[in-house]
Amino acid sequence: MPTDELIEKVSGLLAERGNAVALTGAGISVESDIPSFRGAQGLWERYDLMEYASIEGFRANPEKSWRMLYELLAVCKKAKPNAAHYALAELESRGLLRSVITQNVDSLHQAAGSRRVIEYHGNMEELVCVSCWKNYPTDERYGNDGVPPRCDCGEILKTNVVLFGEPIPWLARQSAEEEAQNCSMLMVIGTSAQVAPACDLPRIARASGAVIVEINPEKTWLTDTVTHMYIPGSASGVLCKLLEKQA
Ligand code: OAD
Repeated sequence: MPTDELIEKVSGLLAERGNAVALTGAGISVESDIPSFRGAQGLWERYDLMEYASIEGFRANPEKSWRMLYELLAVCKKAKPNAAHYALAELESRGLLRSVITQNVDSLHQAAGSRRVIEYHGNMEELVCVSCWKNYPTDERYGNDGVPPRCDCGEILKTNVVLFGEPIPWLARQSAEEEAQNCSMLMVIGTSAQVAPACDLPRIARASGAVIVEINPEKTWLTDTVTHMYIPGSASGVLCKLLEKQA
């Protein structure tokens, strides 16, 4: 089916049923100049995932992990929401979208005005001590000198993002599963769906009767297995058209 017809159809379903949920990944922030993780400019092309982004790697050599974390923090701090983030916030304010479940740690959904955001992989706003679990606002301890911030107890702090090998925060996991089970449509936007358990949410939603709409310039493994409607294109291009059709 041509893309415009697909968008028309999804728009009709949204207007008819509402109660949609969005599951977003790094692709939605690409147009905010945050490279995705697995693309050509992606972090995982340059940093070994297990050495830099796993909890074992962090505990073994936090200074090394902080080289990657400083880079991620710097791009996130500069980034502004793009049209796709604003379109989702607008769909929520019109009562068509009930929540956004995001794997992103850039807080751009909230910056765009989305109110119900489930941060599945945490965020960069806080630092946490992996020894005594004390939390600090990132801005309070973070310096630009490349020296990892420390807790009052002396331990190097970690950003409050979920590293590989760490569990998903309990409340986020629980709320995301409930949203997936209770929505009538799950819009899967800009994720390669390669990281579990986030990549299980579309299957959970489908098993509960939701229509799965995937928005991504590239197909993923979900496209021919779990997705009902695949809309090729950028998040901003597709979501802005979807919003126009609702006017
Ligand atoms: P990936 O980098 O794996 O995938 C990004 C997806 O975005 C790809 O499928 C691209 O095709 C798509 N994409 C690129 N540009 C786009 C655009 N303009 N509009 C829409 N889609 C676009 O990122 P995630 O799937 O989010 O986890 O990665 C999941 C998790 O892996 C991340 O949360 C992170 C990472 O390791 C942790 O840090 C725990």
